[in-house]
Amino acid sequence: MKITVIGAGNVGATTAQLLANAELANEIYLVDVLEGIPQGKGLDMYESMPILESDARIFGTNEYDVTRDSDIVIQTAGLARKPGMSRDDLLIKNAEIVSSCIENAFKYSPNAHYIIVSNPLDVMTYVALKVTGLPKHKVVGMAGILDTARFRSFISMEIGCSMQDISAQILGGHGDTMVPLPRFTTVAGIPVTDLISKERMDAICDRAAKGGGEIVAHLKTGSAYYAPAAAAVQMVESIVKDQKRIFPCSVLLNGEYGFNDVVVGVPVKLGKNCIEQIIELKLNEDEKALLANSATHVQATIKEAMELIKK
Ligand code: LAC
Repeated sequence: MKITVIGAGNVGATTAQLLANAELANEIYLVDVLEGIPQGKGLDMYESMPILESDARIFGTNEYDVTRDSDIVIQTAGLARKPGMSRDDLLIKNAEIVSSCIENAFKYSPNAHYIIVSNPLDVMTYVALKVTGLPKHKVVGMAGILDTARFRSFISMEIGCSMQDISAQILGGHGDTMVPLPRFTTVAGIPVTDLISKERMDAICDRAAKGGGEIVAHLKTGSAYYAPAAAAVQMVESIVKDQKRIFPCSVLLNGEYGFNDVVVGVPVKLGKNCIEQIIELKLNEDEKALLANSATHVQATIKEAMELIKK
């Protein structure tokens, strides 16, 4: 197994480290345009492996040719938010960065699965699909695992139970319009709506939807990276081990949920072929309207991005 992580910043480096610790690949390439940073971080991680008892080898590089024939490519490079910014404010710069990184990686790894982490997430996943021309099941955006992890953390804080017992769903774009779904969220099989009042649940949904901004407000110089990296690695694990786990991920919809040519988060099955199934939940009218609102917002930003790329 050979995995390339593009971007040696906080998300990229943390992702490479978690992949290596879990020995999910024998070879991990950490690519960045900055000279010395991927080499230094990569070698430092390599040297931690004897202690951590993993035989994963991490190589930092500024070149793409050494990433040739990767099985999985994870795109993390791009600007991160600062306080007061929305993820969409990153569009112009990140559309340029993501399209050039993915173009370079694809030249050497045309058969890889691509996991997109750069923001605005759903739009960048669409950009990666267009740049590579890959079929939709091979390009997937990481957002839903992160958003539901936040949702699960807050539910666990509320009722004082194990986070592991909470299974949650969030649909839609990775932004303020995302749609947490209490009706599809359970604690050890018990509907969360039986355990938490509607009023408290609304507050928890709101905190989850704005969870990325909460971290940016604390950090001031950037955005979250521990939870985003852990989420990307969980997707890799399901693919590498062919676990066929079902996670909310950002995927291109062509007819599913009644949408066309838009990338948003929905539950999918992740296995050795990457996206092996898109699962359609039976939503009620309110949930459908919220998802439509989110998809419409993402669609407008996709249109803007595609015009920028053409220029
Ligand atoms: C977040 C950013 C990374 O949600 O999108 O934290």
